[in-house]
Amino acid sequence: MLSGDKLALYPRVVMELGMGDGRLLGSLARADNRSLYIGIEIDETQCGEARSRLSAENIMLLHGSFEDFVPTLPDCSIDMFMAVLPDPGFIDRGRYNTWKPFYARLLSKLKRGGTFQLVTELTDDLLQPVSDDSYHEWTAWLMQTFASLGFTVAGLHDGAPPEYSTRCLDQFRGDTQRIRIVTMNLTKP
Ligand SMILES: C[S@@+](CC[C@H](N)C(=O)[O-])C[C@H]1O[C@@H](n2cnc3c(N)ncnc32)[C@H](O)[C@@H]1O
Repeated sequence: MLSGDKLALYPRVVMELGMGDGRLLGSLARADNRSLYIGIEIDETQCGEARSRLSAENIMLLHGSFEDFVPTLPDCSIDMFMAVLPDPGFIDRGRYNTWKPFYARLLSKLKRGGTFQLVTELTDDLLQPVSDDSYHEWTAWLMQTFASLGFTVAGLHDGAPPEYSTRCLDQFRGDTQRIRIVTMNLTKP
């Protein structure tokens, strides 16, 4: 469990869910040393890579499941959650009933006005290029889904933020026709 004391040391707290090898967390933390950056990753190898690349004072790395960890946070304690290309179990349309309670819980941990930034991708079942119609129908569904959980959709942008580099994003950017990415900024009213 993360103590309230550690959180209180920083005016702003950002948590990345499924940080992979931590390269994005590191670049964000380097550019903003007044905020605390917490990364959590369940895969031991990825977490080990993150530990070997990151040592800044304002970074905290956790090995474990965000499903277990997020509920232990104090309510209204986090300024920003980020999830870059979450696994299908946490965003697939067909598994909505499974992941819905997790994001409802996440919302309760955000400060008022805080943001959940979700970067996620759509692919075609047959790995054909994703049509504009499919993409727009999917983004409309995402917006409606997160609004129904209580988030406000503050922004929706095609693609990932250009300055972001992660292991998966760097691969997916090579196939923008068949892997359509959206970035959503979801705020707590
Ligand atoms: C598709 S990868 C994306 C990794 C990284 N964000 C990137 O863009 O390269 C999803 C990551 O989430 C991690 N993950 C999946 N379920 C998790 C959980 N319950 N708790 C923590 N990490 C999890 C996986 O181990 C994996 O590293």
